[in-house]
Amino acid sequence: MTSSTGLDIEPETSARLHPVAPRVPPAPPPREKPLGGIGLLKALRTNPITIWTRRHFEEPIVLRRTIIGPMCVVSDPGAIKHVLVDNAKNYRKGVLQTRVLRPGLGNGLLTAEGERWRGQRRALAPAFTPRLIEGFQPAMVSMAVRLIERWRALPDASPIDAAREMTHVTLEVLERTIFSDGLASEPASLAQAITRYLDTLGRVHPFDALDLPSWLPRFGRGNGRETLGIFDRAVETIIARRRELLARGEEAPRDLLTLLLEAQTTENGLAPDEVKANIATFIAAGHETTANTLSWSLFLLAFAPEWRERLEREIDEAQDDVKLGSSSLDRLVITKAVIEEALRLYPPAASITRQPIGEDEIAGHKVTSKTRVVISPWVLHRHRRLWNEPERFDPSRFLPDKRQRIDRFAYLPFGAGPRICIGAGFALQEAIIILAAITRHFRLDLSPGHEVRPVQRVTLRPQGGLPMILRRR
Ligand code: HEM
Repeated sequence: MTSSTGLDIEPETSARLHPVAPRVPPAPPPREKPLGGIGLLKALRTNPITIWTRRHFEEPIVLRRTIIGPMCVVSDPGAIKHVLVDNAKNYRKGVLQTRVLRPGLGNGLLTAEGERWRGQRRALAPAFTPRLIEGFQPAMVSMAVRLIERWRALPDASPIDAAREMTHVTLEVLERTIFSDGLASEPASLAQAITRYLDTLGRVHPFDALDLPSWLPRFGRGNGRETLGIFDRAVETIIARRRELLARGEEAPRDLLTLLLEAQTTENGLAPDEVKANIATFIAAGHETTANTLSWSLFLLAFAPEWRERLEREIDEAQDDVKLGSSSLDRLVITKAVIEEALRLYPPAASITRQPIGEDEIAGHKVTSKTRVVISPWVLHRHRRLWNEPERFDPSRFLPDKRQRIDRFAYLPFGAGPRICIGAGFALQEAIIILAAITRHFRLDLSPGHEVRPVQRVTLRPQGGLPMILRRR
């Protein structure tokens, strides 16, 4: 960039020189110095995205000793490829992540390791082919229509909690696609149970961070276990009902549950406990992540009304309500770019952690089985070496002509390598359909006086919900 004096200056310097710096969406500022032991444990429990220092956003690799052991934060695309793809067999999921998630998700695809994971991934892959995902479009569209109808019944300019609304609609989509004949309990109470469960059990307890044995009581988790019970019982009832239906030889709906039960009967298929574990996994991994993607997209569009107008033009030109078929969704390039940019700035899975099985060298840095290897999409997507003006909301980065310039390993909302998100295509299709339907009929504004703050629990969400004003277009 050339200033009026003719000197070349960096974008950040130019922002400081201008009287009004460009507005950027909210994020905790990087720390100048790393947190000490107690501070780190506290931050891990309350909001892990606040632990990062300026160095993390500027250097490709930061290896440090911490109270929870050596931590290697990798933000170099080549080194990330080494960990997640080229030498993936030397890494297992981070102990912390598995400890936090396993009590609720059992040995499902997200938390299983080794042969058990491999077998499940093979058995489940056929349920997530592009053709089958496209087959879920009618269910997604009808849940989007139901949301629009619910909102139409409200007076214009009603205050809503957009985060809660998105949680509701994404759970309804999962209900329809996993078990099209319905859930055993009220979706709303199940949604509440899941959110509460992820909120309480999902917080990193200091004992887990310190790797203390699991028999030591973790105070403050009682509520999580209780809600987990509701979740567990609902899933068991649904599976039992469908098994009965299949046993009677009746025709079963072609939803994810039938696909899972069929996967159980194939050679090397799923074990009985793995069916339940994977239903819990799909609900937990699939609803809050997608809900947050939509919430952040709505927030960012209200934050940058020029982009909201561009999006409205695209949707209005598409004429009819979301048409089915991937080719018509492919035309919604601005819709997709907004979603991808929301996933860059506020990645729902804000950290991907790995534990080396044996010693390794990551871009010249030695790591051992004691090292926590962290690939943080939060850090990576805001890294100074990889992005131009990383804090700015600019969906044009993801428009078709520029999209291919983004390094595959600089943008990881869904991870990469063998453990890449199995539901990525499902989630993107769902987010496009719902955002397009909302934009067609409504415009959401920020609620005056409310400060939006990202907080990382298991997923990255707006703290305390997302109050917005719902207006008809
Ligand atoms: C925007 C929404 C979503 C985001 C951002 C997201 C993100 C991720 C990420 C980053 C991983 C890799 C974790 C790692 O490598 O440690 C992952 C794995 C996974 N995701 Fe998603 N996900 C989303 C939606 C979904 C949906 C809709 C489903 C299911 C219906 C799903 C199911 C899974 C499963 C089962 C895994 C584990 C895969 C394996 O280990 O083989 N996700 N997800």
